[in-house]
Amino acid sequence: MKKILKKIWAWLDDRIGITGLLKPLLNHKIPPRKLWSYVFGSGTLFCFLLQVITGVSLSLLYQPSSNNAYQSLEFITNKAKFGNVLRGIHYFGASGMIILVGVHMMRVYITASYKFPREMNWISGVFLLLLTIFMGFTGQLLRWDSNGVWSSVVAAEQLGRIPLVGKYMARLLIGGDTIGGQSLSRFYSYHVFIIPALMFTFIGLHLYLVLRNGISEPPKAGRLVDPATYRQWYKIFLKEKGVPFWPNAVIGDVLFSSVIIMIILGLAFIFGAPALTGPPDPSMVHTSPHPDWYMLPFFALFALMPKRIESIAMMLGPVLTVVGLLAIPFLSNKGERSPLKRPWSMFGVIIVLVFVTSLLVLGLKAPWSPKFETKALPLAVIKNSHGDTSVAHGANLFYVKGCQYCHTMHDYGGKAGPNLTNVGNRLSKDELAIRIVNGGGNMPAYGSILNKNELSNLVAFLAAQK
Ligand code: HEC
Repeated sequence: MKKILKKIWAWLDDRIGITGLLKPLLNHKIPPRKLWSYVFGSGTLFCFLLQVITGVSLSLLYQPSSNNAYQSLEFITNKAKFGNVLRGIHYFGASGMIILVGVHMMRVYITASYKFPREMNWISGVFLLLLTIFMGFTGQLLRWDSNGVWSSVVAAEQLGRIPLVGKYMARLLIGGDTIGGQSLSRFYSYHVFIIPALMFTFIGLHLYLVLRNGISEPPKAGRLVDPATYRQWYKIFLKEKGVPFWPNAVIGDVLFSSVIIMIILGLAFIFGAPALTGPPDPSMVHTSPHPDWYMLPFFALFALMPKRIESIAMMLGPVLTVVGLLAIPFLSNKGERSPLKRPWSMFGVIIVLVFVTSLLVLGLKAPWSPKFETKALPLAVIKNSHGDTSVAHGANLFYVKGCQYCHTMHDYGGKAGPNLTNVGNRLSKDELAIRIVNGGGNMPAYGSILNKNELSNLVAFLAAQK
């Protein structure tokens, strides 16, 4: 038996050339390094492979049509064997991949591994970062629940605000003027064909470059990169100090990736997939969605930005960020690599981290988005000195007409609009009526939604709150 297998292997190896391909790969020398450094790139790669496997598995049951998508996900989540865990792995895998891409990038930046001759490694990495984010964004819509759909509506609206090209970009993104079945087909195509194809290509390029230019040696203060002599120096360095890729480096990579995958599996088993938030309801156009956490910083940024600069920032922000990232290896591709001699690099990373984390925290609190889980005001807290029925009626309207989603009243309600607890001190009845009928700012106009009687009850209620 062993003999036969050996023969088959020999035949295959001769015809395909597996050993010839793998041997130099496994034996090629890399700089000596600590076990736990330099593992984030391979960790990201493992997450990506996990996403490919779970994604393909999900696609076996998922139906990308607006009539069936939500139901097919419900089926996967509630009926299919391990379906909920599978969705969970895909969700936490995406989260893990985004975190690891970020950490990998910070490590590369801090150790200045992007310097000569690895500029193209960095540039292909920036494209991989963008593709990863776009994967997260498109995946969310495929859930076809209210959160996923409205997150995409908001993004498309934001995109549409870009001067000149915005309208066309939004159309290209969602395949029309509004989100509908065609957007789902389009996002499905992005998510399973176009972006993965690009990712495979760029990952291939990225890995090829790692092999071609070698893994960067751990930086040492005072050891400068000089493009004229670096390659020669690196060759000698490897000859003297290098260790074979297998098994030295592989062990660290495999250990780390295993831990990551265990964490993802653990989270998926414990928490399962994110809950589906109900099929999208086209009549609720004023909702603000709760996108997945990795999208929150973007939403928070745009929600907090002054309205006047929003459309300019929408256009310039992403362009400048990408251009800035791509420019990094060109601003300085030689000299010191040690973070000890480049303290500002640490400083920069910390600033970016603090900025993104605060946006994320703000996004999680989402004070500007309506609070749909608010409860009706208890009669006891309403100020109604004359025991007026119109005031009580108005208080009820305040709840059922959705005012409370955005306005706080005696600790009840959301914070998207001003607190109205003592609004009677501030505004007269006429002013109140004008505000309610005309809306303005982020307040919807209620003129066409309320009848005369309802309006006067609401105004009576608000005017009494002082
Ligand atoms: C989608 C969120 C939202 C909903 C729903 C909403 N509002 Fe508002 N409201 C706002 C915002 C935001 C403002 C501040 C607008 C501005 O910038 O001038 C506001 C302002 C007001 C003001 C003026 C407050 C002041 O101190 O100047 C009143 C009064 C008011 N809303 C009443 C209502 C009533 C009554 C309803 C329900 C019929 C309602 N709102 C529903 C968001 C909302």
